[in-house]
Order: sequence, then structure tokens, then C-alpha cells
Amino acid sequence: MEKNTSSSSSSSAAHVLIMCFPGQGHVTPMLSLAKLLSFSGVFTTFVNTESIHHRLSISSDLTDRRRLRFRAVPDPLTGGANEELDFSSKFINLQESMRSCSTEAYKKLLLTEELAGEWPPVTCVIADGILDYAIEVAGEVGIPTLVFRASSPCSTWAYASLRSFIDQGIIPFPEKCDMDELVKGMEGMEGILRRRDLPGFIRMAKSPEDNYIKIINGMNSQLINGKAIIFNSFNALDHTILPIMSSYYPPIFTVGPLHLLTKFYNISNEKEQEQEQEPGKNSCSSSLRQEDRACKTWLDNQPDKSVVYVSFGTVAVMSLEQFTEFWHGLINSGHRFLWAMREDMVKGKEEMEVTKEMEEGTKERCCIVEWVAQEEVLAHRAVGCFLTHSGWNSTLEVMVSGVPMICFPYFSDQIVNSRFVSEVWRIGLDMKDTCDRNTVERMVREVMEGENALELRSSAARMADLARKECGGKWDFSC
Ligand code: UDX
Repeated sequence: MEKNTSSSSSSSAAHVLIMCFPGQGHVTPMLSLAKLLSFSGVFTTFVNTESIHHRLSISSDLTDRRRLRFRAVPDPLTGGANEELDFSSKFINLQESMRSCSTEAYKKLLLTEELAGEWPPVTCVIADGILDYAIEVAGEVGIPTLVFRASSPCSTWAYASLRSFIDQGIIPFPEKCDMDELVKGMEGMEGILRRRDLPGFIRMAKSPEDNYIKIINGMNSQLINGKAIIFNSFNALDHTILPIMSSYYPPIFTVGPLHLLTKFYNISNEKEQEQEQEPGKNSCSSSLRQEDRACKTWLDNQPDKSVVYVSFGTVAVMSLEQFTEFWHGLINSGHRFLWAMREDMVKGKEEMEVTKEMEEGTKERCCIVEWVAQEEVLAHRAVGCFLTHSGWNSTLEVMVSGVPMICFPYFSDQIVNSRFVSEVWRIGLDMKDTCDRNTVERMVREVMEGENALELRSSAARMADLARKECGGKWDFSC
């Protein structure tokens, strides 16, 4: 790659270093942000851990043109978490190991001559809101930081109300408490969240001192450490909460839906389309898994709006019992379904020989693959409903596609998202805390064929219009 010769003109140019948490749900939006920044002429260095670095390398001519490059910091993920630990301990261990093995490498990136020699020195850091060391270290070396949250504003605001929940004795949940009791003390969210809708780490806390509370306090404190907060969202979606949050936090910017913006500005390199989207083949896809494109042929043979697309993101897992209930519920609904089922999604999978037999009997009505190009699937004319865990990226992607949702949240922000989908945005149904074949069948029928189906479809279509309209004026490439 030729050196950037215009060093004098670039000496005052902006150079953003993006620090990304190594998880698909964070890589997807932050890589889109990096592409948009580089495309608008900002030098951008995307930093992730080695374990996923090779998947994100892009062809050098694309780099030259877009001023986008990749760097890695040591990868603590290979250390492997102790299976016996609960999620909160694993998460805290991960943060600690990232801090210990990545901080020095990250500090060097911020200050190193190598980067400064070819490009202007780093002028700003955009740090993932759960990478606490990234925000602290940038502060130590005097580089301003913007905090990026990969989850929704509504779930962030729910987490921010932790103190009030503890003071009111709402958490930890008393024995035999009414999970459907509405929670008070959330400005802008009165009458929306029940106990069961509080975000995962709050629901899981067993005492005001336990690890989940530590994680939440860490996430909340990072929000005020940056010069501004960036959400992958759009104002029409959070027009009630964002003004309230703005009176408590640094300036808040919504830059989403990011996946739509990168499409909107057609930020894709013609070579990307030609290349096999295989990780490691110089693709710029943010997918960390190989996408099965054969399912498109199956979809092409299905009638319009006849297919339920099923996917629970990259983190959620379910028991064999839950899987069996979802399977029978989908089969009994009589509708076609495409299930993107990660190989690690069902616990106790080894006893799952039933799937082959089940699949044999229903192969003309169902298609099971491990990983799909989700945005393309959601945009396909045959898809009439998305059965999802309501992770924030999936929620934004299905909103833009105008397809109604059925939400079965697994943890964290998903639990708030699913409540907003059903009660505030009214673009789907919330199956939270319920997993039986009758409920699955009933909800699929309601979204696909019931009298409510038309209302849900038009509500989802209206939301898609709002997202597209707002995207149109969002990104000014004149800078
Ligand atoms: C994680 C957290 O779990 C989630 O709660 C948080 O909001 C973001 O970080 P994840 O669980 O992976 O995310 O869900 P989600 O946010 O929906 O991101 C999944 C991404 O994987 C989406 O961009 C989706 O398009 C993509 N995907 C999923 C595929 O490309 N193919 C698939 O088959 C399934």
C-alpha cells in the first residue's frame, strides 16, 4: 500500500481509532461506523482482537481509497472461560483479561510513530461502551473519547435506573414477587416495564453487591466518561427517552440504523460483491461466520410472506426442551420456516438426533442452515415474520425490512427490546419467559394469518419508512 504522501495536509486531518469488543453484535455496527467514517474522508483505524482480525481485513486498494485499516490487540478470548463460572463472573474475567493483555498494545496504537508516520496521529477514540480500559487509557494519554453503545437507548436507560431500583427495593427480586407488577421510577418509561422486563443483568442480580451489579455500574460509569455517546438507533424510535437522557449525559448522537446507512450511501466495494463472502478472503463483510447462501434458492421457491425466519443471534443458547417446544410449535403452526441454527445454540445437542428425523418429515416446509446473510433474508419477499431473541442489531435490521417480529429474549438488553417491540413500537409480539409449543403456534398464527397480522404488518411497514426517511438526511459527507 503506497505511503500517504500528503502528510502535510493529513497532519491536521481527523484520525479516529475505533476500539471494538470482539463479539458479532458489536463488530456489526462498529465496522459499519468505521466504513462510514472512512468513506467520508476520515482516517479510521478499526481495532479488534487478533481472534477476529483476519476476518475483517480488506483489500489494500479499498483501504487507500477509504482510509480504513485494521489493527489488532492481543486476544484474551483464547484463554477460555471456566465453564463452571456463571455469566457475570465470565464477563468480569473477560474484561479483566482484556484489560491486562490489551492495554499496553492499545496505548502503543494510540501513540505509536508507525501509525502517525503513515497517517495523522490519532485525534479521537470511539470506544465500545463495555471496553472500560479503552476509555480510561485514552483519557490517560489525553485523547478525547466518544462512547459507542451497541445496545438500544431504552435498555441503556433501564440499566441507568439501577440505583433507583435498589433504593426502592425492587431488586434483588423478593421471593414470590409479582413479575407483572409495573416498575416505578423510570423517567420517560412510566407504565411500560414490568419486573420481568427489566434488563437481564438487573433481573439476575441476587444482591446489591453481586457481580451483575458491578457490571452494570461499570457500564453506567463509562457513559459519563466520554465526550459524547453514540447509539446505533434513530430519533423517531426513541423520541421520548433520548431528550430525557440528554439532560443527564454528555451529548447523545444517534447514527443508525448503521447497516442501512452503509447501504444508503452504497458503501460497498464492487470487489466485495464479486468475492466469495468467505471470512479471511479479504472480504469486508462483518460476519464472523460463513454465510450459507443456498437457503436463498429455497426462499426463492416459497410464496410471498409465507416463511417464518428464525434466528437467536450469536450468544443466545437454549435447552433441548426449549428447542423441541419451538420445533413442534413451528411445525404445528402449519407455516414454512427457515431456521439459522448456530452449531452451539442448543445445549444437550448430542441427544438431538430427533432433528434429522423431524427434518426428514418436513423437508418441504422447513430449511435449517447454520448461518445466513440475515439482512438479505429479512429483505426477501418470502419472509413474513421474524422469530428472534431481539438482539439490537437484529431488531434494527428487521425494523428496516418492515417484517413483524415474535421476540423470545435470552438476556441483557434483549429483555427490554422485546417489551418495546410489543408495547411501544407495536411491531411484534413478546413471548418473554414463556416457551411452550402452544404459545409458539398461537403467536406464529397470530402474526402470519390472524386479524392482528394486517395491523402488525402495516405498523412494521410504517416503522421501516420512518427509519429510511431519517437515514436519508443523516450522514453529511461534505466534511
Ligand atoms: C449481542 C447481544 O446479545 C445483544 O443483546 C446486543 O444487543 C448486541 O450484542 P447478538 O446476540 O449477537 O448481539 O444479537 P444481534 O444484536 O441481533 O446481532 C447479531 C448479528 O448477527 C446481526 O447483525 C445479524 O444480522 C447477524 N446474523 C445473525 C447473521 O448475519 N446471520 C445469522 O444467521 C444470524
